[in-house]
Amino acid sequence: MTSEGKTQHHPNLKFSHFGFAVHDIEFMRDFYTRVLDFTVTDRGHVEGMDLIFLSRDPDDHHQVVLASGKPQGIPAHPHNPQFGSVINQISFKVSSLEELRKIHEIFLAENVASIFPANHGIAWSIYAHDPEGNNLEFFVDTDWYFPQPFLVPIDFTMTDAEIRAATEKFSREQEGFEPYGEWRKRFANRMNVYRAYA
Ligand SMILES: [Fe+2]
Repeated sequence: MTSEGKTQHHPNLKFSHFGFAVHDIEFMRDFYTRVLDFTVTDRGHVEGMDLIFLSRDPDDHHQVVLASGKPQGIPAHPHNPQFGSVINQISFKVSSLEELRKIHEIFLAENVASIFPANHGIAWSIYAHDPEGNNLEFFVDTDWYFPQPFLVPIDFTMTDAEIRAATEKFSREQEGFEPYGEWRKRFANRMNVYRAYA
């Protein structure tokens, strides 16, 4: 064991995809394909479940799996119904603040439930519910790190430049602030990841 409590020899793992149980698989397919632009890569029936495989990246056969058979009556999170009672969040990286703003506009036009734009300092994000109440997050990393969790609302009436400037200013004022690149270098060492960070 290392000082971090990890075994010294371990297979290389990279997170790839997730699947979740659904009540209405076609209704959910419509949301993920039409609103979020996923492509159905395969579908079928196995082990008592209908399955739909979805991806937005040809390097991944599936990034999301919809599986029939969600039990009825799963209770909401007892303290915060934005977040899932079992799966707290399912999060997608977005390429820029401009793209995140477009997602916000699409969700408003689609009347997506529980839209919550949040500024974490290290990331700008939008939380929203899919049609069965799963809490999705869409986020863009900033260039600034300070200890998490941290969350204040994003005001999309501000311009992207104003949001960027305000975020950098309050991030630099936080205890434990460092450029995100420095944080990545430190954690690359801890995670035994050998990759160059500028
Ligand atoms: Fe997150």
